Amino acid sequence: MARIKRLIDLPKVQLDRSDATPLNRQIERQLRELILSGDLRPQMRLPSTRQLADGLGCSRGTVVGAIEQLIAEGFLNSSSRSGTFVVGPLLRDAADRRGDKHAARPVKPARLSLLGEFLADAQRPTYRPGTAFSTGTPDVRDFPFAIWSRLCRSVWRQPPRDVVYNQDPAGYLPLRKAIAAYLHDTRGMRFEPSNVFITSGSQQGLDLVARLLLNEGDRVWMEEPGFIEARYALRSVGAGAVAVPVDSEGLSVADGRRRAPDARLAIVTPSHQYPMGMIMSYARRIELLDWARQADAWILEDDYDSESRHSGAPLPALQALDADETVIYMGTFSKALFSALRIGYLVLPPRLMERFCRARYNLDPFTSLMAQPVLTRFIEDGHFASYIQKTRRKLAARRESVVSAARDYFGDAFAFQGDKAGLYVTAVFSGPLRGRSDDEAARKALAAGVVVAPLSSYYQGPATAQGLILGFGSVDEKTIRAGMATLSSVIDR
Ligand SMILES: Cc1ncc(COP(=O)(O)O)c(C=O)c1O
Repeated sequence: MARIKRLIDLPKVQLDRSDATPLNRQIERQLRELILSGDLRPQMRLPSTRQLADGLGCSRGTVVGAIEQLIAEGFLNSSSRSGTFVVGPLLRDAADRRGDKHAARPVKPARLSLLGEFLADAQRPTYRPGTAFSTGTPDVRDFPFAIWSRLCRSVWRQPPRDVVYNQDPAGYLPLRKAIAAYLHDTRGMRFEPSNVFITSGSQQGLDLVARLLLNEGDRVWMEEPGFIEARYALRSVGAGAVAVPVDSEGLSVADGRRRAPDARLAIVTPSHQYPMGMIMSYARRIELLDWARQADAWILEDDYDSESRHSGAPLPALQALDADETVIYMGTFSKALFSALRIGYLVLPPRLMERFCRARYNLDPFTSLMAQPVLTRFIEDGHFASYIQKTRRKLAARRESVVSAARDYFGDAFAFQGDKAGLYVTAVFSGPLRGRSDDEAARKALAAGVVVAPLSSYYQGPATAQGLILGFGSVDEKTIRAGMATLSSVIDR
């Protein structure tokens, strides 16, 4: 006992039997503190576990548990011949780092890679679901969550083996089959279900396409104005975006050929150009496919919101015209259902499929299987189709509300462009909006709680048009009217 007292000031290790913390945890925590504070010095030998147990009045097993934990954490080491010792001298430094000194020490700003700095500095879009005229988010108020949760329970009560043991980088095969059937029926596309490749949203699809198909210095056609966020994926691999103007027929292939005939990839939104809203004409589609074949380039067809065409039949996809395996079709459930699902997909040309699977497995093996089987049932049981049908009607009415409210408050200051589809409409200025630029109008609106995206911010180069992107996906008609009234009054101020 005397020896123990000499080695460890036993009163410092005290067991509190009224505390719910198990005794071994109490011993462990207090010994750790004694080591870190320097009360137990490096190289000091601990009494035997039997002596410690006697001194503390607990079982030897309890002490052994605590000591083994501290050995595993690297605070103690032991040898069968000479006993258990405090590790040192490194721990002195660890002890110095603790306590008040730690809090007082100024922490250096984090130094990121050049790419990291670029990505971290990028401005995030303002998403305010429900607020006029926030873009990018659909309405979930009518989403059949009761059905969704029933499907969740039914799938996960006894999950199929191919769900829990999935190792396929392309994702859950039944979901890929359901997506293929849907695209065959609605978009005139023909491909094997095995060529559907599930991603965590289409943003990841874009990132994979950039990483696996582009080299540093490669050039990529991007629509101008366009989905400016695609630049992040390109920049990540050192590829350069070439702005190719769009006109009423979509991307100008002739301009693309002039600016970068040898580009490796073209990123296009043929079904509903983002953000101008027009449909790429048949002639342009053929021109684009011809260029890709001649230049041995790829086309990424970003079909981000085509499910929500407000009326008429869904449009055939560009992919349906591709005879040369140049088109990669990219879809997402972010706009049709909700973006928190983080489920998107690529339809890959057969010549890319196996390579993408292998490469992806080494980066991020596959998208979580939590929601994939549930979504499969949601599609197979017909809920997806009926939900889309209902949403389309609602979106059509909301678009009408935006256009008529804008006419009431702004007269003919705007021209409304594009096909009646999706979750937003672009209001192009006929001239400066009561003397203001779109950027200025957007800033003033935001200060008054109205979110509008300035069209000029979708250009890489100087904007050739000014306007406002007005989202209505998550905005009800009353809020649309009120939002337009606010917009009109703040722009005058
Ligand atoms: C044109 C376009 N492409 C792709 C995306 C990315 O969608 P996801 O949520 O599937 O990554 C968006 C999202 O706003 C978009 O507007």
